[in-house]
Amino acid sequence: MKINFPRIILTCTLTVMSFANASAQNNDAATEAKIDQLVKKMTLEEKISMLHANSIFTTSGVARLGIPGLSTDDGPLGIREELKAGGGWAPANLTTDSATFFPNGSAIAATWNPSLANRYGIAIGEEARARGKNVLLAPAFNIARTPLCGRTYEYYSEDPFLNSQLAVAAVEGIQSQHVAACVKHFALNNQETERGRINVEVSERALREIYLPAFKAAIEKGNAWTIMAAYNKVRGEYCSENNYLLNTILKGEWGFKGIVISDWGGTHSTVTAANNGLDVEMGSRPPYENYYFANPLLDSVKAGKVSEKTIDDKVHRILWVLYKTSLSKNLPAGSLNTPAHSKTVYDIASESIVLLKNDKHLLPLKTAGLKTIAVIGDNATHMNHLGGFGAGVKAKYEITPLQGLQNALGKTVNIKFAQGYRARVINPWQKNKNDKDVDVNKPDPALIQEAVNTAKNSDVAIVFIGGNRDYESEGRDRKDLSLPFGEQALVDAVTAANANTIVVIIGGAPYDINKIKKDNHTIVWSWFNGSEGGHTLADVLTGKVNPSGKLPFTFPVALHESPAHYLHTFPGDSLTAIYKEGILVGYRWYDTKNITPLYPFGYGLSYTNFAFSPLHTDKKDYKLNETITVTTKVKNTGKIDGKETVQLYIGKLGSAVERAEKELKAFKKVMVPAGKEVTVRLSIPVKNLAYYNEQSKKWVVEPGKYKVMTGASSRDIKSTVTISVIN
Ligand code: BGC
Repeated sequence: MKINFPRIILTCTLTVMSFANASAQNNDAATEAKIDQLVKKMTLEEKISMLHANSIFTTSGVARLGIPGLSTDDGPLGIREELKAGGGWAPANLTTDSATFFPNGSAIAATWNPSLANRYGIAIGEEARARGKNVLLAPAFNIARTPLCGRTYEYYSEDPFLNSQLAVAAVEGIQSQHVAACVKHFALNNQETERGRINVEVSERALREIYLPAFKAAIEKGNAWTIMAAYNKVRGEYCSENNYLLNTILKGEWGFKGIVISDWGGTHSTVTAANNGLDVEMGSRPPYENYYFANPLLDSVKAGKVSEKTIDDKVHRILWVLYKTSLSKNLPAGSLNTPAHSKTVYDIASESIVLLKNDKHLLPLKTAGLKTIAVIGDNATHMNHLGGFGAGVKAKYEITPLQGLQNALGKTVNIKFAQGYRARVINPWQKNKNDKDVDVNKPDPALIQEAVNTAKNSDVAIVFIGGNRDYESEGRDRKDLSLPFGEQALVDAVTAANANTIVVIIGGAPYDINKIKKDNHTIVWSWFNGSEGGHTLADVLTGKVNPSGKLPFTFPVALHESPAHYLHTFPGDSLTAIYKEGILVGYRWYDTKNITPLYPFGYGLSYTNFAFSPLHTDKKDYKLNETITVTTKVKNTGKIDGKETVQLYIGKLGSAVERAEKELKAFKKVMVPAGKEVTVRLSIPVKNLAYYNEQSKKWVVEPGKYKVMTGASSRDIKSTVTISVIN
């Protein structure tokens, strides 16, 4: 008897699915009806009270109708501590509000692993729930247009595809905990210099191809429930009152149903902002009743300048988000500082660390017979959960690199520490008159001498340098790429004193490490890697973890070679930044202009070696509605297991319009056991080869030939095949 199981299963699945869809629609319809009812019951005053802050991180609800307010909190690094009621930004000094410190944005991006971004989202979402927040002001993923941007460490990448994959995964994780993600900063907040006044002029094509894709993906695929309008202007209008960005694109084209929240103090008008798409005004300075979206908005409605329908739409959006969060069924309790969250931090951090150079095979450290290690540099003991201006987290704990090494090797190895340099940052808002002439970047001869003495008498010297969260900060951009605090002099001196010197650089953005690349044989890049940062770094150095991080942005040889600087468009003239480089951002610029970077996008070594087989595409010619399937094999030719990221780039041959030499279109990180080979399959819908045509205002796939490239970085292409797209 022939039983057609697959068909039966398929029919059942379809029935279950359509039942699920129908019930989701019923739920949606029921919620919509409830929302409409609630809005009808509210007075105009009650509605307006929901549209602006009533403390730094909260808005009002309507208690008589059982409507809670919004309880927001930063941010990407962890759930920020509570603030003293009415005390401005002063902490409440509670004993119950410490939280897990998560790796920074560029660290998450360096994992090239969306499943880790998703775990980050779930864990931080659980912490937000446990702390009673319904909106988490994260993730932040503005494009790394210039390496100097003070918030590069908070953001992900210079590439819109990598950005999108991580943003969607993080948003889905956060919202799985019934906490709204607030994706930020919409849009083009790519520099901190004059961020509150700068006007960005950008071509429509660069806007669509480079700066918007991750926001679009976070809204359309990730279903982010809230979004934060950026501080800056775009094409002459503040982002918080930018009709094109908020009404036309976000709420119109992308069908966004959630809340547009202003950045803190980033609202500049009542009527324009209300009519052009802003829903909630946040800020940190009372009196809140005078906010644009408080009494002035009430007056504007009464005067007929803003319709009550517009107000109802904003309230509707807030209620829609509340029904997905605080008012949702089966609201999880959340959890704080759990071992599982620490494990998530550990796993992210261990996949983020980038091995830049290992020419002497000094790493992983051969611990047998190792007697003394000199641990040198302020960054070996520097904590990064707090620092600088902007969002930090009162970490329950943070393991420093020195503690990590002590925990890993302290029983058998004599670990000696020397500070090496003093990490002093004089922030503009902290400057006093005695600081006027202090050169914080001057090497300290006494500390260097002490470091040299320590290094001389040790088997290995590990120098921890780089930035920290005072040096890389919201609110200002770095002046240049040079290493701060006299660190280069320290590295030179220690390297001369000990032939087994390892340089570990900790930072969230590119630095000038030309000299180190030239003079040093062993270089490791690490990030502000969260509560478990020191443990993961020690485990990478000792080989318990085989590094697999890949750079999420290009390190230029010189700042003036990077696009915004080459074209003199940073930080802008007369408060206008013209993005003259257009679509040629990051590696798109270096590759197209044939400029060799110091370290390319996607670069990162391993303790093992990988061999890529030639790539295969499933066909040679593709129609517009088809998908290109690419297969390649990756063989681990070394002796230890390792993870490799196969990066798939596409380049149009003979395009009628300007195109980048190559664009990342897919990637996959795979574990390959020693001596084994794995097959990696990647797919690209042909429609993803499109460029944005400014004349027709449409995405257009040009017919013709395309190069399909697989590589281990943007500059390490292993195999290329040409395919054709036919109409
Ligand atoms: C930042 C936001 C942050 C907000 C609240 C602003 O200065 O730009 O990213 O969420 O402050 O702390």
